[in-house]
Amino acid sequence: MDSRYAQVYAAWRRDPEGFWRDAAAAVDWIRPPERIFDAGAGPAGRWFPDATLNICHNALDRHADGGRGTQVALVHDSPVTGTVARHTYAEVRDAVAALAAALAREGVGRGDRVVITMPMIPQAVFAMLACARLGAVHSVVFGGFAAAELAKRIDDARPVLVLTASCGMEANRIVAYKPLLDEALRLAAHRPGRCLVWQRPQLPATLVEGRDRDWAEAVAAVGGERAPCAEMKATDPLYILYTSGTTGLPKGVVRDTGGYAVALAWSMPNLYGVRPGDCFWTASDIGWVVGHSYIVYGPLIHGATTVLYEGKPVGTPDAGAFWRVCADHAVTAFFTAPTALRAIRKEDPDGALRSGHDLSKLRTLFLAGERADPTTVEWAQTQFGLPVVDHWWQIETGWCIAGNPVGLGRLPVKRGSPTVPMPGFALKALDEAGAEVPPGTMGSLVAELPLPPGTLVTLWGQDERMRASYLSTFPGHYETGDAGMVDADGYVWVMGRTDDIINVAGHRLSTGGIEEVLATHPDVAECAVIGATDAVKGEAPLGFLVLKAGAARGAAEVEREAVALVRDRIGPVAAFKLAVAVGRLPKTRSGKILRGTMKTIADGGAWTVPATVEDPAVLDEIAAALKARGLPEG
Ligand code: COA
Ligand code: AMP
Repeated sequence: MDSRYAQVYAAWRRDPEGFWRDAAAAVDWIRPPERIFDAGAGPAGRWFPDATLNICHNALDRHADGGRGTQVALVHDSPVTGTVARHTYAEVRDAVAALAAALAREGVGRGDRVVITMPMIPQAVFAMLACARLGAVHSVVFGGFAAAELAKRIDDARPVLVLTASCGMEANRIVAYKPLLDEALRLAAHRPGRCLVWQRPQLPATLVEGRDRDWAEAVAAVGGERAPCAEMKATDPLYILYTSGTTGLPKGVVRDTGGYAVALAWSMPNLYGVRPGDCFWTASDIGWVVGHSYIVYGPLIHGATTVLYEGKPVGTPDAGAFWRVCADHAVTAFFTAPTALRAIRKEDPDGALRSGHDLSKLRTLFLAGERADPTTVEWAQTQFGLPVVDHWWQIETGWCIAGNPVGLGRLPVKRGSPTVPMPGFALKALDEAGAEVPPGTMGSLVAELPLPPGTLVTLWGQDERMRASYLSTFPGHYETGDAGMVDADGYVWVMGRTDDIINVAGHRLSTGGIEEVLATHPDVAECAVIGATDAVKGEAPLGFLVLKAGAARGAAEVEREAVALVRDRIGPVAAFKLAVAVGRLPKTRSGKILRGTMKTIADGGAWTVPATVEDPAVLDEIAAALKARGLPEG
């Protein structure tokens, strides 16, 4: 490979610290870094240990004061409310500095945690940036989680303050955020002193005396006061973002400030090929890592315009929404998940709704969040008439592990592969003993330590869990939890998880976490959850329940209650729609549940009876129970 990418990657390999020192020039520092990496700090080392900066200054002030004051920083496109609003860099900076002043008056300061649980409205972005301005650590919790999940995150992060809105709008219903928060705070052991509530006219909320305060009033009360940007260490935590662990206890991924700014700044021109002033649209949610990095921080640090889309790919109002948004805002780079494209393809397979939309500004379509299946990629290529770039990343890494760097001259695509490692990631596939497997052979995908800037520095308050979860299986490496291979050309192939994580509509869920909830049903003796293949969502959780002898309720009732229980405890985002009562679970002679074989049966694949199975007849029982539900489909 003699590409520009190969030269850049080789330059990083030769001198990693020099590479990131150069990349750091894209960031405004208060004290520029002299030391680049401190291998001895924290579980996996720390980047830019002696430098200081403010990331909100980098995202807003330097552009507002540097000639981009009148450029649109944020477009809020909201088909669910029928509104579009454009906010310039100067306006966003002012709104953020005023909100930061209000938060400071409420006692929020450097290092304090602030939980943000909000729909896709500009105030949610202002909230994140206001925290960053003060040096407070934000933790955004996705609105599709149930109160119990929000409570777990509140107890782990121990925020001094919570920011919320009265409601959010889904395609089919209004989601009352405030009652959800009230319930979470009832369940949580930790009590934040204050909640600021952004009231929306669609469903205003009742405020709890003494604890809740109207957001707009709190901001109005500061008058002309504006909070300055606090000088933060590059190693200070910017945010905590929770993700499913293998148990019901979520992992709080901690992102630092300086390394994150440098990694995102590098990625904007080199990976995404975006120029300052371009419009970048990531159709995700600020509750996910993709939203943190490429709705909020990445585009703004780079002086681009970002789109905050409050809608769905289909149903708001139709499957033409993505074309409209790309055309209306002259989007140049568009980033979404394959599941969203599958949803559009299902409703508008021939792209009839594209007609009349001017997509001449659009240069590249980026996909991530799950494996990009070749059929979807092919469809997207035809419909968009553009290069489709798959890239692989995780909440833990904060940015792309492997992708096709558009700004360095795109490499030839091998369909099904997210292409090549980004500088900073030295990837290998290892066997169970930790030995590197030959090119093209499947193994556990790992990255050599240290990880590049922008990746997780620890789990909140749990250095040991960080080591145990990611660093101990293969010493000297970060374990991605994905299985796959690196081929002879250096292309990376990501084939599936090595743990119990499933990927539902680009969202990551732990089947173990769902099983924990099902096991609390009084009539459930045993259960197993698998990710069954779903034509739109990629995977969908499917539960098997063994009822207790003499269960009080009938099977159909327990199945219904099990579905309701998961929605109530984990949330609608789990998309848990089907539980099937069975007589027994298939197990090996050592008692291990044969989830893999159950998945093959549910997916309609050719299944064989594993040699270790205790009683092969149980597999036939499972197949019969699924058949009775019309599974596998088709
Ligand atoms: N607040 C409250 N509820 C939410 C929510 C939110 N922010 N987001 C989703 N939900 C609800 C949905 O309304 C749905 O509820 P329902 O069971 O009553 O229908 C449930 O959670 C499941 O949501 P989802 O799996 O997203 O299904 P969907 O049918 O609403 O939409 C897609 C399907 C494919 C259109 C949608 O999942 C999508 O756009 N996915 C892209 C994911 C993504 O951006 N991932 C980030 C990586 S790039
Ligand atoms: P999350 O941390 O929620 O972003 O989910 C990360 C997981 O999604 C990864 O570990 C992969 O299993 C999967 N994933 C994300 N992007 C890709 C991709 N481009 N190809 C294959 N799998 C992906």
